[in-house]
Amino acid sequence: MISLRRSGLLAVTLPSLLLLAACGSDQSADQTTTTTASAPADSASTKSVAMPTSASFGKTTDGTEVQLFTLTNANGVKASITNYGGTLTSLLVPDKDGKMGDVILGFDNVSGYQSPEFVKAGPYFGALIGRYGNRIKGGKFTLEGKAYTLAKNNGPNSLHGGLKGFDKVVWQAEPGSSADGQSLKLTYVSKDGEEGYPGTLTVAVVYTLTADNALKIDYTATTDKATVVNLTNHAYFNLNHGAGKDVLNHEVTLPADRYTVVDATLIPTGELKPVKGTPFDFTTPHAIGERIGQVPGGYDHNWVLNTATGEHAAATVYDPATGRTLEVTTDQPGIQFYTGNFLDGTLKGKGGTVYGKHAGFCLETQHFPDSPNQPKFPSTELKPGETYHSVSTYKFGVRK
Ligand code: BGC
Repeated sequence: MISLRRSGLLAVTLPSLLLLAACGSDQSADQTTTTTASAPADSASTKSVAMPTSASFGKTTDGTEVQLFTLTNANGVKASITNYGGTLTSLLVPDKDGKMGDVILGFDNVSGYQSPEFVKAGPYFGALIGRYGNRIKGGKFTLEGKAYTLAKNNGPNSLHGGLKGFDKVVWQAEPGSSADGQSLKLTYVSKDGEEGYPGTLTVAVVYTLTADNALKIDYTATTDKATVVNLTNHAYFNLNHGAGKDVLNHEVTLPADRYTVVDATLIPTGELKPVKGTPFDFTTPHAIGERIGQVPGGYDHNWVLNTATGEHAAATVYDPATGRTLEVTTDQPGIQFYTGNFLDGTLKGKGGTVYGKHAGFCLETQHFPDSPNQPKFPSTELKPGETYHSVSTYKFGVRK
């Protein structure tokens, strides 16, 4: 079973437990000012580290006040995350001249993420995706001899957890700070039967902004009944977001010799096809727009990463206009490279930016779509007593 490890939970939660012990009870989710906290006793550093800031992000349609937490590092890089959907709403990183710019598609407040147009279009900007990232064929699977029926929300299939996936729930938030950088721990308990999935799933996701301009996302989950889990983040990147242009000039590298072939409803057929000689070959850098016309609909596929376990490279992106680079690493076997094909200009985001076709791209680290129905794909099963643990990192730099 790939990347479902029993030992992961302790490694993830210990620093935050120590931090909570060190900080006492004043780390509530609704703090509104910058506070400082002592670094955990076991960290290399003994000096005080600033905590993430938090501010209101507005009220959800059912009247719950949600927060926007901003993690900052010494280089002035800032990552903002709301506990509504665990959504990454903005990420300010330098360009080749040191000018900071936001590289994430999103909205200024929670209403944007709950607007009927956004929910209907379903682009999942920046959100945490679960319980199962990407599609499950016919919204059905069988586990330990029992058939389960899921909420269908994408034609005949179930996509990104169903009608109310982890992107549409309010998470418990605990800001933190350690020698690794400022962090935000989000927790959510998904009930047995939620969206049709078996087992109570207890999920923790920790976002950490590191000193080397990386946003690390650490996922853990445990269950009380056998279930399936495939967690990811659905950020849309545009390394030149402020310019209001599409991403077709961005150059992408994917260390993957094969991809999963899909049917007309984007469900894998089971075939892992070599990319060589096709527009899916990103083993060397190619501009997104160079061959996208040869792929009906645009890129929306799962690449089979050449390395499946342990921390490995998953993608590299370079924007020649700003010099910004993005390097993605993961411990997952696949990555969904999606080029915002369904964006059509009806959504207006931060600062009035119109999000047209290819306004952003997603690099969703994951197990392969529809794995519960594909016995030959790496397993996404999680049993009681096991801990799902996965880490993906999005690191920013510049090329001059
Ligand atoms: C899927 C796309 C979908 C997008 C937004 C991606 O992960 O592969 O087909 O349109 O998410 O929902």
